[in-house]
Amino acid sequence: MNVASPGRLLVATTNVGKLREIRDILGGLELTLVTLADHTPIAEPEETGSTFVENARIKALAYAAATGELTVAEDSGLEIDALDGEPGVRSARFNGESYPEKFATIRRMLAERGVDGSTARFVCSLVLARGDQLIWETRGVVEGRLAHPARGDRGFGYDPIFYYPPYGCTLAEVDGDRKAAVSHRGAAFRAFRDYLTGPAGPLGSGATS
Ligand code: IMP
Repeated sequence: MNVASPGRLLVATTNVGKLREIRDILGGLELTLVTLADHTPIAEPEETGSTFVENARIKALAYAAATGELTVAEDSGLEIDALDGEPGVRSARFNGESYPEKFATIRRMLAERGVDGSTARFVCSLVLARGDQLIWETRGVVEGRLAHPARGDRGFGYDPIFYYPPYGCTLAEVDGDRKAAVSHRGAAFRAFRDYLTGPAGPLGSGATS
């Protein structure tokens, strides 16, 4: 679907770690990036979906309706195979106030199942909406495994326990560019950038103004 030249794009997240990564990837486009901080406070929609894409749609539609902006939202998290995909869509609100506490919860749950480690992946579902219309969506994934103990102080969230084999370290041990080059969010937002500037996108050659 084509949409008129948007001028502005609302990146609908309050997570500063995510915002930093997204700004880096979408930089340089003929598009003014605005955030929720540029709007009067909007009640956060309840993330009632059971999948990342359902929650991303809920957020994109809620913030697009509340602001009238072309809005991109994402929902992301960590899926641990030995825990049947937990914490998944509950990653942000998973047991434990701090991330070290969440890491300890994961260790405890793994021990209860008699395992020491697990393969895991980060998933990012991205949805673009305007008004009550869903315009475009994609999904990015990065495969790795759990690290113990946690290592690194870069990135955010579960990065210190996400070991990425091709780098031989966790995603909290690499700089933002190296993380974005392989991460779930990097993959989803690069695809989004390609859509925006491609023939069907609002910044592409076929765009109407
Ligand atoms: P959301 O804001 O509801 O999508 O929650 C996403 C949560 O998943 C974050 O708060 C983190 O706990 C986790 N998460 C998502 N992406 C990353 C990442 O790139 N690194 C580490 N943790 C992540």
